[in-house]
Amino acid sequence: MQILDGKKLSLEIKEEIKTKVSEYKSKLGKVPGLSVIIVGEDPASQVYVRSKAKTCNEIGMNSEVIELPESVSQQDLLKKVEDLNNNPDVHGILVQQPLPKHIDEFAVTLAIAPEKDVDGFHPENVGRLVIGRLEECFLSCTPYGIIEILKRYNISTKGKHCVIVGRSNIVGKPMANLMVQKLDGMNCTVTVCHSATPDIGSHTQNADILIAAIGKAKLITGDMVKPGAVVIDVGMNRVEDPSAKRGYRLVGDVDYDAAREKASAITPVPGGVGPMTIAMLISNTLKSFERAHQTV
Ligand code: GUN
Repeated sequence: MQILDGKKLSLEIKEEIKTKVSEYKSKLGKVPGLSVIIVGEDPASQVYVRSKAKTCNEIGMNSEVIELPESVSQQDLLKKVEDLNNNPDVHGILVQQPLPKHIDEFAVTLAIAPEKDVDGFHPENVGRLVIGRLEECFLSCTPYGIIEILKRYNISTKGKHCVIVGRSNIVGKPMANLMVQKLDGMNCTVTVCHSATPDIGSHTQNADILIAAIGKAKLITGDMVKPGAVVIDVGMNRVEDPSAKRGYRLVGDVDYDAAREKASAITPVPGGVGPMTIAMLISNTLKSFERAHQTV
């Protein structure tokens, strides 16, 4: 049984990017820049956003966190996005979700220039992914991170049955589209299960590759895992634990101890998919910079 160590892989990827950034700095006198907008004071979002900015700085990229009050109008937020679209020093724009109820999230996604949409949420990027023009789009960071885990651990995917549990726009849907692609893709047969699927276990028991991204702690029990399966756990669920320093601990969507008895390979939580998501965000920002400077 192999532990798929996303933490270790993310460090390798960040080192690769750091080297390139320092080369560009000496060659062009410029480095990639990421701007992250956060609206309001959701504690989980603040943790994610700080972590994104910190990683950029470690790598030698520019980063800026723009904090807007919960009460900001949609018009003012869109104006901010527009300014970033027009700023040549900004290569990546990310507006942290969720946004307050009075703001139309999709209108904000549409406002971000597709060539700076390092989240890969804009319909132009999503459309290119669906069509299979992977080189020309930004891939949503979590699915992209999972692809990198599979590739870098040499996990064979062609003709395998991949079962994805969850159909979010951020993970499940782009993941399904990537796994089904022939060119540059994973070439799998794909099943997507979700909250309306009766007996999810009857599907996951046939999964050679099982990707859980539904946001329910330990939904995937040991009996739902096919012997020898590769198990990828996207879940980051907080469960109360009085013995933990913060009063909670993070568990995945998979019952890890039970699943590891059956799987051939599995991602831990934490230290699996999570660190890869930020690494791919940085990778997308570098790609945007390279395109802007026509170095690729
Ligand atoms: N909220 C949770 N995950 C993400 C993400 O990947 N991007 C953005 N913009 N918001 C998020």
